[in-house]
Order: sequence, then C-alpha cells, then structure tokens
Amino acid sequence: MHFSRTTVMYYELLTLMSIGTGILFITCYLHNIFPIQLVNTKSTGIADKNIYKKIYSITWNKRPSVIPTGLLKYKFRKCEFRNCKIGVASDKISLGKSDVVLFYHTSLNGKVPTKSSNQKWVFISVESKAYTNKNFKKKEWVNKFDWVFSYRTDADIYFPYGLLARTKIQTEKNYTNIFLQKTKNVAWVVSNCNAVSKRNKYIKEMNKTIDVDVFGRCGKSCSSPWNDDSCFNDLSKVYKFYLAFENSLCEDYVTEKAYRFYQDGFDIIPVYRGAPNIRNILPEGTFISSLDFTSPKELALHLKHVGSNESLYTSYLKAKDQFLSSSYSQQEMLQSLHCSVCEKLNTGYKRSTKLNLTHWIFEKKCLIPTDI
Ligand SMILES: *[C@@H]1O[C@H](CO)[C@@H](O)[C@H](O)[C@H]1NC(C)=O
Ligand SMILES: *[C@@H]1O[C@H](CO)[C@@H](O)[C@H](O)[C@H]1NC(C)=O
Ligand SMILES: *[C@@H]1O[C@H](CO)[C@@H](O)[C@H](O)[C@H]1NC(C)=O
Ligand SMILES: *[C@@H]1O[C@H](CO)[C@@H](O)[C@H](O)[C@H]1NC(C)=O
Repeated sequence: MHFSRTTVMYYELLTLMSIGTGILFITCYLHNIFPIQLVNTKSTGIADKNIYKKIYSITWNKRPSVIPTGLLKYKFRKCEFRNCKIGVASDKISLGKSDVVLFYHTSLNGKVPTKSSNQKWVFISVESKAYTNKNFKKKEWVNKFDWVFSYRTDADIYFPYGLLARTKIQTEKNYTNIFLQKTKNVAWVVSNCNAVSKRNKYIKEMNKTIDVDVFGRCGKSCSSPWNDDSCFNDLSKVYKFYLAFENSLCEDYVTEKAYRFYQDGFDIIPVYRGAPNIRNILPEGTFISSLDFTSPKELALHLKHVGSNESLYTSYLKAKDQFLSSSYSQQEMLQSLHCSVCEKLNTGYKRSTKLNLTHWIFEKKCLIPTDI
C-alpha cells in the first residue's frame, strides 16, 4: 500500500515533468520563429495562440496614396495574434462586415461611409498637428473615430519613428583621426523649404556666426540622392555637425531626421531642433539641442566652441557610439499597425474615455519658436 502510493506519485511527477518539458520546447520553438520583435507583440505567456475561435476583419477605407498596394496584403504571420484578415474596401470587400476600419488622415475626402454598430474606426497619422490633414474636423467626421495611431506616446496605438538600443559591441575607432578629417562645420539636408518651425530663418541667423552648408531640394546636391543614407554618411565624414531640424516642435515628434544618425559610421554630432521632450528620448551627451540656447547665435557660438576642442567634440561621438538605432520602414510601421489592431480586437481593448479626436489632436501644444 505504502509502496504503491509512492509509485503513483512517481508517475505523477514524471507526467508533470514531461508536460513541463513540452511547454519549454514550445516556448523555445515560438521564440525561434520570432527572435526579435520590432512590432508591438509583447508576450502574454499563452503558449499557443493559433487555436482561434474567431477571425476578425480589418479594412482600409481607401489605400493611402503613399503606401504601395503590396504592403497592405499583410498575412499576420509575425503578429502575436494572427486571427485577423486585412483588405482594402472595394466592390468585393464592403466595410459593413468589418470589425475595424482604418482611415489614413489624407483620405478623408468624399462620402463618409456608414458605420456599423460595434465597428471601430482608427484614425492614422504620423505627422505633427500642423501637417495632419484637417478634414477630420469636418462636421460629418466628428465623433466617428474610436482609436488613434500616432507617434505620440498617448495614442491608442503608439508607433515611434525609431528606437535606440545600447550596443554591446565596443567600437574600436581612432577618434583623433575622425576629428582631423573634419574640415567643414555644419551641414543641413532639407526637402521642405518652408516649414512652420521657421527653421530656414533660424539657420540663416546661425550662418552669420558659423558656416552652414545646405543640401537637398533647397541647396547643393549631395554625392548621392539627398534622402539616401549614403548622402548623410558622406557628409558625416567632413562635417562636424548636422542640423537635425524637425518641421514642427511638438512633444514626442522625433523622426528619422534624428534616428538616422545613430547608425554605425555616422561620426557627426546631431544638432537637434524639434520635440521639447527630446531629453527623454535621445541619450544625454549624444546630441546638442537648439532649445537649450536663447538664440541661433548662442547655439552657433556653442558649436564653434565644441568643434574646436577635440576631446570635447569626440566625447559626443563616443557617447553616441554606445547606441544604435532602428529607424522603422513603412512596411514595419504597417505591420505594427495591423498587429496592434488585431491584438486590440482579441483583448477587447477599450479607451477609458471616448475619443474626441479634435480635442486629442489640438490639446497638445506644439512650441511656437520664440528664439528667432
Ligand atoms: C590615430 O590617428 C592619428 C592621426 O591620423 C595618428 O597620429 C595616431 O597614431 C592614430 N592612433 C592610433 C592608435 O592608431
Ligand atoms: C551662408 O552664408 C554664405 C555667405 O557667407 C552664403 O553663401 C550661404 O548661402 C549662406 N547659407 C545659408 C544657409 O544661408
Ligand atoms: C577641451 O574640453 C575639455 C573637456 O572635454 C576640457 O577639459 C579642456 O580644458 C578643453 N580644452 C581647451 C583648450 O579648452
Ligand atoms: C471635442 O473637443 C472640442 C475641442 O476641445 C470641443 O470643442 C468639442 O465640444 C468636443 N466635443 C465633444 C462631443 O465633447
């Protein structure tokens, strides 16, 4: 009797152990399929999410003109929840049966579709307030949207332009040599020649104190297409500073203009002008923020000071080399959007208060420059 009870316990233990090993195996297996997740797919600890009862449907109201057709045919393979299908509204696909309808900010022209009950409408813009299309304010669109996709951290679906990670690899660089190669002061590449942040005026002022060379649509041509990374890489060899000036000065609005300089080999100090909360986003000692100076002249004088002292100058490069960026592609952005929406459908996401889009967009104040 005593002996047989021990045997039963022994078998019970063995069964438990094999289940444990099985779970461990499944976990490792899943982990191998999704080694690094760029998309928003934090694990909930559920081992198998492939047994689904329901397939949700997500539909784009219109294909945004900036997005190639192919990118919208996403298969949810890399999402945590994969029981969603995606389409673009057409004669064959109607919005009526869709669980979620996606609206890109520039495609709110034309008739407002009929909204089914329980359907969620998502407003999508990664532009600052000033550059977000204002059609959403029209009477017929008011109170239609449920969720927002934005670079803002307070969005329902938050997606930053980039992400910095500490590097493990210690770069062996001859910083003295890098410094000695630099024969020029400040470079700036620009496409939009007249932004609301009045950056042109600011730069004209700086130029009275330190040489600023302008490249891109409003200036000289680069060795390669101006929006190409190799153009920025070339400039990084001979220039000491790069003006990473955003088109707007809004909280959280940090774009690839800043993130792209945190790539290996971009040995140049970014001079940033944009998000007032930049100190919470980019690491200390890796950049210079124009908002720390009272005027373009003060900033220019500071750049002259840093640029003429090798150990001071290279301390920025050394600090920056501790980090590497991932600047997201359009495809990664859409992938993240589709995965997040699918996740929200599965988890029954609800906002704490009903979205008032007009209020949400306009409540956040962007800085009006006072230093020029
Ligand atoms: C670094 O470069 C400088 C200037 O080119 C050179 O004088 C120095 O010897 C180099 N240092 C090392 C450790 O290679
Ligand atoms: C800076 O000044 C120089 C003349 O000193 C001029 O050639 C150049 O176009 C100016 N650059 C800007 C950005 O205003
Ligand atoms: C250069 O900067 C360092 C700080 O990084 C400072 O200790 C040093 O005095 C400066 N040298 C000159 C010549 O100003
Ligand atoms: C939404 O916010 C705007 C701007 O703050 C306000 O004027 C409007 O009354 C709000 N609408 C509702 C339904 O609360």
